[in-house]
Amino acid sequence: MAIERTFSIVKPDAVANNKIGTVVATLEAGGLKILAQKMIRMTEAQAKEFYAVHKERPFYGDLVKFMTEGPCVVQVLEGDNAIARNREIMGATNPAEAAEGTIRKLVGTNIERNACHGSDAADTAKVEIGFFFGGAELAALSR
Ligand code: CDP
Ligand code: MG
Repeated sequence: MAIERTFSIVKPDAVANNKIGTVVATLEAGGLKILAQKMIRMTEAQAKEFYAVHKERPFYGDLVKFMTEGPCVVQVLEGDNAIARNREIMGATNPAEAAEGTIRKLVGTNIERNACHGSDAADTAKVEIGFFFGGAELAALSR
């Protein structure tokens, strides 16, 4: 299997609920390395652009509000098959449908406030990482 990088967010609900550690521990226990990590407050402009793919969906406005309501933690994860592996560790979008032991089952509240984001493919992972992390920043952290 190939070593990949993927982009991850500990969303504002999980940060507010003191679950950063639970999310990080679940990612690490699942075999992913935290290559880079920082706490930010997403601006409205950033949230709108980050989720632009959903701009026609009815939940877009509420999603932008949610993602900007408080700090979140943005991360670059690395590991074997990291993109798909992270999606497995996160669980289904709706916490009510997420498998036991997944982050969204453990920490998520509802289909919007679902604790974490993970890139869905290699091309989106690359774009999303570049949206929040500079190349030199990542090079300095590579191990
Ligand atoms: O995050 P994921 O890729 O699993 O799901 P998505 O379909 O790409 O949706 C992005 C995010 O929008 C979700 O993680 C939820 O926070 C939010 N969402 C929502 O608020 N209501 C929905 N019906 C679907 C998604
Ligand atoms: Mg998605």
